[in-house]
Amino acid sequence: MRIGVLTGGGDCPGLNAAIRAIVRKGVDLYGHVVIGFRDGWRGVLENQTTELTLESTRGIIHRGGTILGSSRTNPYQDGQDGAPRVRDNMQSLHLDGLIAIGGEDTLGVANKLSEAGVNVIGLPKTIDNDLGGTDMTFGFDTAVQVATDAIDRLHTTAESHHRVLILEVMGRHAGWIALWSGLAGGADVILIPEKPFDIDEVCAAIQHRHETKGRYASIVVVAEGATPKAGTLSVLGSGEVDAFGHARLGGIGDALAREIESRTGYETRAIVLGHVQRGGTPTAFDRVLSTRFGVAAIDSVHDGAFGQMVALRCGKVVRVPLRDATDELKLVDEELYDVARVFFG
Ligand code: F6P
Repeated sequence: MRIGVLTGGGDCPGLNAAIRAIVRKGVDLYGHVVIGFRDGWRGVLENQTTELTLESTRGIIHRGGTILGSSRTNPYQDGQDGAPRVRDNMQSLHLDGLIAIGGEDTLGVANKLSEAGVNVIGLPKTIDNDLGGTDMTFGFDTAVQVATDAIDRLHTTAESHHRVLILEVMGRHAGWIALWSGLAGGADVILIPEKPFDIDEVCAAIQHRHETKGRYASIVVVAEGATPKAGTLSVLGSGEVDAFGHARLGGIGDALAREIESRTGYETRAIVLGHVQRGGTPTAFDRVLSTRFGVAAIDSVHDGAFGQMVALRCGKVVRVPLRDATDELKLVDEELYDVARVFFG
């Protein structure tokens, strides 16, 4: 068989481990040819390819990012139908199938193409961990570890200056990174999109620490997609949207810092972790999960099980319908948030 591979959307640690696994089993054990497309769906639309060999994918398991490059190109942007161009390019390359490695946007495209008759297998990735159909995505564990390390460091400087420090983390419209890293890092307040916040309550929790516990340093972890309850605080967005219509997030941390300092009088600073949580080497957990997904994806192509996505369910790697990936956003579970609340204030 001849199989195409692409990595789309935001990059994350573990992508190269997945590519390496696809090639190692696909070429070495199945004898297939694996063709990489450059920069996500853009490479498929423009026929930008590079053959992926055992040699070209050796020694990359620990490397962050993606050797193929990525983009947020959308073959269905503005109502256009990219399926014919994708199909034609796959035929010109004599490809029997395509493995799309991506998050909700990339796999949403994969699902549309699959419904149009294109042979596609989905391989889920995102630091946001917000994909339905799978218990976890790789990239998430690394992002949580990077954010937790940052929180550990913020504690010492907050205590030295008796300050309130606010760490803004990624996660788009789900609070997984904020909740896990906030819990792991011992944050005093955690704000997530799933729970619109009241700025008065946030300030009261911080003041409670200062006035009744003699704790004059506080750490607030806020997800970039967190929002204030209606009418409690105005936060201006950038107004920019990407090719899939996602608003460009960011800025909630600074808005919170200004508001908390002006209301409480406590010195407050905001830190935006940004793309630091998406860069660098994957944790061992993410290397193992992405390798498992890569092997399962090439097995699925070998079996002709197109229109599926590999997924983690109760510790096992299984195949689920591609549409499960994008049916609905996977939001944080209430039970974990309730655990985190024990340590607020
Ligand atoms: O989806 C992953 C992600 O890192 C989100 O958490 C974040 O909002 C977005 O990508 C940032 O996108 P970009 O790197 O295109 O600015």
